[in-house]
Amino acid sequence: MLGRIEHVAIAVEDLDDALAHYKDVWGLEPTSRERVEDQGVEEAMLPLGESHLQLLAGTGPDTTVGKFVARRGEGLHHIAFEVDDLEAALAEMKSKGVPLIDEQPRAGGRGHSVAFIHPRGNHGLLVELIQRPTHSE
Ligand code: CO
Repeated sequence: MLGRIEHVAIAVEDLDDALAHYKDVWGLEPTSRERVEDQGVEEAMLPLGESHLQLLAGTGPDTTVGKFVARRGEGLHHIAFEVDDLEAALAEMKSKGVPLIDEQPRAGGRGHSVAFIHPRGNHGLLVELIQRPTHSE
């Protein structure tokens, strides 16, 4: 069912600040940056080998990521596992009794479909299942 780790997401306070840091210290430059309004985030993808680092900032204090950073500070937010068939993966998780945040796929950044698995059913790790757009990027 699982492919590679598509990205590791870090919640940050200020996206511009974090991007400057990752460029200066690690030499990483974003290949995309966009606001995903329905998730209340602005995200940037930094390519790293076969996967990416995703820097995530809330678009306001009342967003999920905004609250996360206020409560716990900056740091690891989630890991995204790539799957070929997101609907099938969700059905499998459901059949195993894993609590889902998203029962149905929804639109993520870069034209991908995504769904989140609840960390309470996964030893504390928030997992995003992610499926590439069917056409080539
Ligand atoms: Co993500």
